[in-house]
Order: sequence, then structure tokens, then C-alpha cells
Amino acid sequence: MKYKKELETARKASSEAAIIIREFAKSETFGVELKRKNDLVTDADLASEKKIIEVIKSVFPKDRFLAEESNTYTELPSGRVWIIDPIDGTTNFSHGFPPYCVSIAFWENREPKVGLVLEVANDEWFWAVESDGAYLGDQKLSISEITDPSKALISTGFPYSQFELVDPYLQVLKNMMQKTHGVRRAGAASYDLCCVAAGRVEGFYEYGLNPWDIAAGMLIIKEAGGISTDWKGKQNKLFGKRIISGNPSICKFLEGEIRNCFGEENLEL
Ligand code: IPD
Ligand code: CA
Ligand code: CA
Repeated sequence: MKYKKELETARKASSEAAIIIREFAKSETFGVELKRKNDLVTDADLASEKKIIEVIKSVFPKDRFLAEESNTYTELPSGRVWIIDPIDGTTNFSHGFPPYCVSIAFWENREPKVGLVLEVANDEWFWAVESDGAYLGDQKLSISEITDPSKALISTGFPYSQFELVDPYLQVLKNMMQKTHGVRRAGAASYDLCCVAAGRVEGFYEYGLNPWDIAAGMLIIKEAGGISTDWKGKQNKLFGKRIISGNPSICKFLEGEIRNCFGEENLEL
């Protein structure tokens, strides 16, 4: 398998990070700071990121890192880059409310090659390697074939910034409640994407996301047969902030609903 060494390294880094995160979770005495309104960082995020970078650097000393708590990039550099969310779902984690994940992606020349999301509380390992399929543990994943929105379960993330867009967001949510089987908000975008890949939900949409939230999950969805787009139905960009994921029919449905409620002028950054 191509990228075997990168996958093994991502596994090792995330399992060592998970040990640290579980210790913090048990101790319940970690420091919590506010980076911006509603944007938390805990001692566990910092310790997890440090460990992940240390493990990867020991194997691939020349690679670059785009990691949430130490990032300085505003666009994806070329070459070999590791994109890391040391805890995705920090608000969940700080309340002892699963899911919370470690998300590690390896990209080469601006293409995703390896994606790994470890849901720490339930020890679920979602992973994918380019052209080799997506897996939960050793079980192959494929997205849901349900194309009828009225039979679809949809997940989303509630806005925690750009509150000027809350009204159209709530209008979409209201329509989802009436037109689908229901809506879920798990609290960790990387996990939401894995749930699309595993066919647990049919579709996902959110705005305000960062590269480290989606870099691994996007590949896991692609390898499970799904797609991720921006809010105009075009190929999703890592720094694009807005995402729709699912099978093509459900993505089209979500795109139409979002366009109707947000208006053409709010579909991009
Ligand atoms: C957050 C989670 C959440 C999403 C936010 C993200 P963090 O990541 O993925 O589900 O709604 O947009 O920022 O801050 O816990 O790493
Ligand atoms: Ca995150
Ligand atoms: Ca995070």
C-alpha cells in the first residue's frame, strides 16, 4: 500500500495523543482558555498537538505542519504537509460530552493522501488512504445510498461566529426539520464527516470551518464514495470555510436549500 508509513505514523501519533487526552479527561483539572468568543483551547489541546508533531517529526523531519494551535499558514503550502486538529470538539471535551476526536491528515502537493480521525471517547478509528478505500477499524465504509431527503438524517454545526448569518442558518435548519428525518449536531466536524462516510447520516453542512476540521474527513468521505463541495456546488477548498458533504443527490438538495435561505451573496467567504 502506498503511504503505508504515513498511515502508521498517523496511527501512532493519534494513539499517543489519545492517551494524553484521556488522562486529562480523567483528571478533570485542565486549564481552559478562550481564544476568541466561543473558541476554547485547553491544556489537553496543547499537549496533544505537541505530542502529534513530535511523533511525526521523528519519522518525517522535513515535512511541514498546519496544526490548529500553532498554525501560521493562510493557504496550503505545496509539498508534504500534515494538517492536524489535536482535539476536534474541544467544547465537547471540556464538558465531558463525546464525541471528541484527534484528526490527522497527510497532504502532498495539495492533494489528500491519508486521513485519520480517532474518536477518543469511543475509540473509533476512521481512516482512508488515497485510492484504497475508507475504513472504520477494519470495516470498509460506504456512504448512504438514500437519495430521498424525506428519508435522510442530516448533520450540521451550529454557528459560533459570524452571527450576522444566524437567521438564514436557522431558516435552513427549520426547513431541514420539516423536509428530512431530522437533524443532529455532534459538536466535532471531523466526526460529522466520518458519519457521512459511514452512512450514519446522509448529509452534512456547516460554515465557519477551518482546514484542520475537514482535511482528514474529506478524504474519508471521498474514499467511501461521497463528495464534499462548497456552498456553490463546486469542489470544496481546504480554506473555503463552507462545506456540504454526502452523496451527490443529498448534496444537491442541501445546496438548493442553503442557496434559497442565504442568498447568492452569502455563499462564499
Ligand atoms: C470545532 C468543532 C465544531 C465545529 C466548529 C469547530 P474545535 O472545532 O469541529 O463541531 O462546529 O466549527 O471549530 O474548535 O473543537 O477544534
Ligand atoms: Ca476543530
Ligand atoms: Ca481543535
